Amino acid sequence: MNSSPSNLHQQTLVVIGAGSGIGAAVARQAAARGARVVLAGRRLEALQQQQAQLPDSARSLAVDITDADSLQALFRAVGPFDHLVISAGPAIDAKPLAQTGLLEAQQAFEVKFWGAWRAVQAALPYLAAQGSITLTSGLLSRKRVPGQVLKTTLNAALEALGKHLAKELAPRRVNVISPGVTDTEAYAGLPEEQRAAMFARTAASLPVGRVGHADEVAAAFLLAMENGFISGSLIDVDGGGLL
Ligand SMILES: NC(=O)c1ccc[n+]([C@@H]2O[C@H](COP(=O)([O-])OP(=O)(O)OC[C@H]3O[C@@H](n4cnc5c(N)ncnc54)[C@H](OP(=O)(O)O)[C@@H]3O)[C@@H](O)[C@H]2O)c1
Repeated sequence: MNSSPSNLHQQTLVVIGAGSGIGAAVARQAAARGARVVLAGRRLEALQQQQAQLPDSARSLAVDITDADSLQALFRAVGPFDHLVISAGPAIDAKPLAQTGLLEAQQAFEVKFWGAWRAVQAALPYLAAQGSITLTSGLLSRKRVPGQVLKTTLNAALEALGKHLAKELAPRRVNVISPGVTDTEAYAGLPEEQRAAMFARTAASLPVGRVGHADEVAAAFLLAMENGFISGSLIDVDGGGLL
């Protein structure tokens, strides 16, 4: 067995969206491999709760990914660093185009697409030449499901951004992780019964027969960060949901 230390050891990782769900799981797994993790998101208390489970080298910094000044302040405070993970995403209701207001659609893009755009721009002056960026899309980018026009277009745009940046920002590596339905705080807004029914319906439709866990999706982020030969990749972690 290979017992060599992870190449994340003593590297600095910034996770935007680390207060819950997939981002929090990435922070935990990277810290366990010896990375110095900066947990970022809007709710400082949520970040500090996650930080409490991590080694002393971890820290929490508030940031709003919709605000360029806030992002610049974040990266100024962090200084030179090695890896950027962006998992910040808004709650999005399923409904058809005809019932989706333009402002509502723009607000979702403002967080997840323009947020990633802004965060990468603000991070670049500080991001190591041998570093990496990992973005988060979602299986609906390539799956046509009634009522999911907003998630489909938003995640497709992110995947295009990630692939483009993998060439433009080289030798930095840029990858995109595409989760399928994963049991996280993203669904906390749904009444318990509705959430359980949605997970059960999804599980029944998937080859693996269940929805995903945040740690399973986080493992793909670790792979993208640690493997120096992975760039421009779109990694699906969706229980076979695209089949
Ligand atoms: N869970 C799934 O089934 C699933 C499926 C496909 C794709 N995804 C994608 O995976 C990513 C992570 O989702 P998740 O499931 O881990 O959900 P989550 O637990 O709700 O995590 C999203 C995080 O984004 C942060 N965030 C939201 N708006 C922000 C802003 N303006 N600035 C900075 N941070 C912000 C939130 O923290 P604050 O509120 O404290 O800022 C939260 O911690 C999202 O992009 C989501 O679209 C998830």
